[in-house]
Amino acid sequence: MKFFVDTAEIDAIAELNDLGMVDGVTTNPSLIKKSGRDIIEVTKEICDLVEGPVSAEVTATDSATMIAEGRKLLEIADNIAVKVPLTWDGLKACKTLTDDGHMVNVTLCFSANQALLAAKAGATFISPFIGRLDDINLDGMELIADIRTIYDNYGFDTEILAASIRSVNHVLDSARLGADVMTAPPGVIKSMINHPLTDKGLDAFLADIKAADIKIL
Ligand code: E4P
Repeated sequence: MKFFVDTAEIDAIAELNDLGMVDGVTTNPSLIKKSGRDIIEVTKEICDLVEGPVSAEVTATDSATMIAEGRKLLEIADNIAVKVPLTWDGLKACKTLTDDGHMVNVTLCFSANQALLAAKAGATFISPFIGRLDDINLDGMELIADIRTIYDNYGFDTEILAASIRSVNHVLDSARLGADVMTAPPGVIKSMINHPLTDKGLDAFLADIKAADIKIL
């Protein structure tokens, strides 16, 4: 499973990147707003840092402007994936940009039918939003499973990018269901390491190291 980091915070990306945990980055207008940075400037910095796909989202809602914005974003670096919303205009922009050989991430996916349309429009990534479905008492994981089945039934090579991940269980369940990629905030990725038995076991070993004065260096 590929790990994308869902943030526009450079320091957080760099920290995880140094550990080999970053296969790509996703941003959206809310994350750009949170960073307080200019979209072009911060996206360029992320692209300089990370080798894998960096999703940058268009701001327009009509396909012609989405395509123009997408082309401007694509000038930033070779690893840009243009992010477009799951609307007919977004799919039109997706088809044009992927036909030209560029990566497109179709975002705001909440149904398997939408994911089917995105795959037919040539999307590189489809982003089903797990957390936002859970927020309204629907089952985000059921959506991941449905998309996996449909894409496998027909051999679509659009990658399933599990998005809106809010917990380590979302990561685990997405991996179990065969999502190709997951994107999560740095805090969620970092908390994947936590286990009370690891802490307890290490405390016991440290006590024995002290008691027996075990030294290696
Ligand atoms: C990623 O591409 C999405 O923009 C992001 O995961 C949305 O997450 P949220 O629902 O927590 O805002």
